[in-house]
This record gives sequence, C-alpha cells and structure tokens, in this order.
Amino acid sequence: MTYARILGTGSFLPARVVTNADLASTVDTSDEWVVSRTGIRERRIAGPGETTCDLAERAARQALDASGCLASEIDLVIVATTTPDRVFPGTACLLQERLGIHGPAAFDVQAVCTGFVYALTIAEKFIRAGGTKRALVVGAETMSRIVDWNDRSTCVLFGDGAGAVVVGASNEPGILSSHLHADGAYKELLTVSTGVSERGPATGRITMRGNEVFRMAVTTLDALVGETLAANNMKQTDIRWLVPHQANIRIIAATAKRLGMAMDQVIVTVDRHGNTSAASIPLAFDSGVRDGRIQRGDVVLMEAFGGGLTWGSVLLRY
Ligand code: UT7
Repeated sequence: MTYARILGTGSFLPARVVTNADLASTVDTSDEWVVSRTGIRERRIAGPGETTCDLAERAARQALDASGCLASEIDLVIVATTTPDRVFPGTACLLQERLGIHGPAAFDVQAVCTGFVYALTIAEKFIRAGGTKRALVVGAETMSRIVDWNDRSTCVLFGDGAGAVVVGASNEPGILSSHLHADGAYKELLTVSTGVSERGPATGRITMRGNEVFRMAVTTLDALVGETLAANNMKQTDIRWLVPHQANIRIIAATAKRLGMAMDQVIVTVDRHGNTSAASIPLAFDSGVRDGRIQRGDVVLMEAFGGGLTWGSVLLRY
C-alpha cells in the first residue's frame, strides 16, 4: 500500500509588520476591538511588487531543503491561492519555472481559505494512485491586494504569507483521511464580487457578512471534526495537535473545546499573521514543526473554512 507522507515544511512572511494601532490611524478601529473579537495583533503585508509567487518561492525552497529532496525530483506542483500573480499562467507554473522544474504537472487550486486542505488532498490522491512520487504543495497569498482598506470590518482581518510542504510516497501512513466540502448557496457571505468574466479584468475587493460566516464556521467545523474522528475510528484524545485555519481565535477555541483539547495543543499564529487564507495552515504547521512542538509520529488535525463556502479537514501522522 502506498501512502502520502509530509517529508518537509517551509514558510515565508513578508518583512513589513502592520499592527492594529497602525490600522487605527486609517480606519475607525482599535487594538482592543481587534484583539478581543479576533485575537489578531499584527499581520505581514507584501511590499510593492512583491507577489504571491515571490512568497511561494521562498516557502517552497525551505520545504525542499527540509525534505532533503531536489527540485528536479518533484513531479507535481500545486499552489493553493486566491490571489494569483496573473489570471494565467497559473502561479504553480510561475513557481515551477523559478525552481527550475520542467515538465511535470503544475496547477493552481482555488478554494479560498480551504485551498491548502484541498491541494494537500489532491496531492495525496495523485500519490496513492501511483505515478507521482514527490509533490510540492504550497499555500500562498497576497490578500492585501484584494482587501478594501477603507472597510474596517474586513481590513483588520487579513495578511500575506506562504507555507509549503513536500509530500512523498511512503510505505508508512502519513495522511490518514481527508474530508472536503463546499456549498455555493452561501457564495454571497464571503466574496470578491468583481471578476474577469462578470465585469472584465478589474479587481474586486473582499466583502464579508462576518457574523453569519462566524456562526456557519463554528457549526460546520464542529460537524467536520466529528466526521473526521468517526471516519478514522478515533477518539478526541488520539489527536496530539490541532492546526486550524487562522481566521479568528474564538472560532479556533470553539473547535479545540469540541475536541476536548487544551489551547497548548493548538498551533496558533493568528495573533501574528492574521488570516492569510490558503497560506494559514501551512504557515502554522511549519511554525509548529520548526519550534519542535510537532514531532514525527504525532497525529495532527488540519481544518479550514472559507469563501465558497468551502470547508475541509486532513488528518495525518507527521
Ligand atoms: O477565513 C474565512 C472565514 N472567515 C471567518 O471565519 C471570519 C468569521 N467572522 C468573524 O471572525 C467575526 O464575525 C468578525 C471578527 C469579522 C466580526 O466580529 P463580530 O463579533 O461578529 O462583530 P460584528 O460583525 O457583529 O460587529 C459588531 C460591531 C458592529 O457595530 P454595531 O453595529 O454593533 O454598532 C461593527 O460595525 O463591531 C463593529 N465593527 C468594528 N468596530 C471596531 C466591525 N469591525 C470593526 C472594527 N473595529 N474593525
């Protein structure tokens, strides 16, 4: 039996830090409101001309180093992003060229904040089906480019960054199960309403009915966690680490409570990164691996919820 295992991780954040106090000088908000409602204290914002592919490349190179794989050994590249450099070619093709990989399949996945969970699941299916031996899976975003910086209800939430993993074929189980969902009936709750086919090549801005998204996220993730445990015949106590999508500390805490997990079993980066959409889980996962909390053999639950609406989980043994 061939399984898919994570061989190495990497991440990258742009240099510029924007604090809540910085935002309070441009919109009617306060550090107290943002911290108490979201847990976010600061976020990173890409510099002028710094693109999603620039961030993805730095994270990918780190993941390749950590995995011990050469770029030439990668036979599948998937980039999860909502903020591609161009309409086309896909960011995965741009990244492939930067890394000197020529020939194997490369494509983007657009599932907003659930994008990395979708991309990792697709890579796992390629590997388990045979043929693909080593996949590079990246979540990378420059959300700052689609944020409405005059809208205090959304501009305080998002940040830029990238995270990456190299996934390889293995005789040992790595990814144990994945569970993907979507329901387009909720498309208007969280959206960028202007797109190339609807209105031409103008870029829209994020709008969100935050309160409704919040309620949907808590109930949906509750059911998703139950689905994931049942599919693996596992108990809550079998999970060592929760690596959630980093949108709001209150949503994260509700999921941890559902799992009976203390917050010191949860990898939290939302305070420093804000919501980096598809990049948030691989960024958090890499931070837990690099600081030594997540160890080889640990059972890790990744879960995400975002625009679409989309939601999904991956349960894995690291
Ligand atoms: O990653 C994809 C998934 N996304 C999410 O999961 C996000 C889910 N939603 C949330 O995290 C929360 O709904 C928010 C953090 C976005 C908002 O928190 P909330 O507790 O749901 O606040 P609210 O939207 O109900 O707004 C409460 C009040 C409103 O004022 P009134 O109408 O009560 O007078 C807002 O106008 O807070 C006001 N408000 C703000 N005040 C200061 C909204 N944004 C701000 C702000 N600063 N930045």
